[in-house]
Amino acid sequence: MEKKNLEWGNLGFEYHVTDMRYVSDYKDGKWDEGRLTADATIPMSECAGIMQYCQQVFEGLKAYTTKDGHINTFRPDLNADRIRESAMRIEMPPFPKEQFLAAVDEVVKANYAWIPPYGTGATFYIRPFEYASTNVIGVKPAAGYQFRIFGTPVGPYFKGGAKPITLCVSDFDRAAPNGTGMVKAGLNYAMSLHANVLAHSQGYDENMFLDPATHTYVEETGGANFLFVTKDGEIVTPKSASILPSVTRRSLVYVAEHMLGMKVTQRAIPFSELKDMAECGVCGTAAVICPVGKVVDHGKEICFPSGMEKMGPVIQKLYDTLTGIQMGEIEGPEGWIHRVM
Ligand code: PLP
Ligand code: COI
Repeated sequence: MEKKNLEWGNLGFEYHVTDMRYVSDYKDGKWDEGRLTADATIPMSECAGIMQYCQQVFEGLKAYTTKDGHINTFRPDLNADRIRESAMRIEMPPFPKEQFLAAVDEVVKANYAWIPPYGTGATFYIRPFEYASTNVIGVKPAAGYQFRIFGTPVGPYFKGGAKPITLCVSDFDRAAPNGTGMVKAGLNYAMSLHANVLAHSQGYDENMFLDPATHTYVEETGGANFLFVTKDGEIVTPKSASILPSVTRRSLVYVAEHMLGMKVTQRAIPFSELKDMAECGVCGTAAVICPVGKVVDHGKEICFPSGMEKMGPVIQKLYDTLTGIQMGEIEGPEGWIHRVM
């Protein structure tokens, strides 16, 4: 099958309507077997649970073309597990893991023409999601749900690609102390939009959110976890009950410890420690690993020694190893790479 005629190297992180998507419905207490459809629209009731009380959870993972032309996904089992956790937290029926994994493969295969070729820097972003599709007017979970997966070719999440970004410390919270920050529910992202627009309007790339209870510990950005490198070359990454357990961060921690022989500590990180860090990066499926050059806290600048021009050496090493595994160039730990075709 021929590839679409896109400028693969110039794609942003944007939605393209691709050929096929997967749909399964939950009715009378069970999920149906699901199907592929060309229809990218969703007709629904004005009173559907998603429209009224925001019952929705989602995932994000990518498919990568290898040098020899195969297409891989990266640890899709973790996304399958996480969307089940997310669903249960907001009283939605979890979608079966095996069905999730098979459906991701179906969507990848059916959109082969849209999957960026090797070496273009672009990837195929896969967005599984589940939402309440039947009516609710009193505040309660809906009875019916729909699960869907679509995919879209994407370039870098931040416009500069791997150029260091500048963050500002937000006065807003993206999560509550005993809220939903640890699950991937659309409502968390609605929460972050005002802070996001404000940060952009002031010239920042993203927000750094602090812990919602005390505003003294580092949490995450609106869409990625943090990694820091200390001046001794150790990696520290925030541990918190209100951040999303990032697949990328968990993978990088493993890579650093077991493949690169580095020391990694996951702990609460006081914001006051940032000034002593050598490097900072944000990591996630969309962001991959993006270096942070500067964090601005109410006018006070914290500039990391790695600077505003390029990634620091440790973040670069992590980036090269992780992307090497994802692109099939470096042998990764067993079970991380799933060959779709
Ligand atoms: N944190 C938030 C709030 C996110 O939305 C994401 C993206 O999924 C991440 C972290 C990174 O998670 P992952 O590496 O699993 O994509
Ligand atoms: C991802 O990395 O998959 C995300 O969900 C981040 C953002 C696009 C919401």
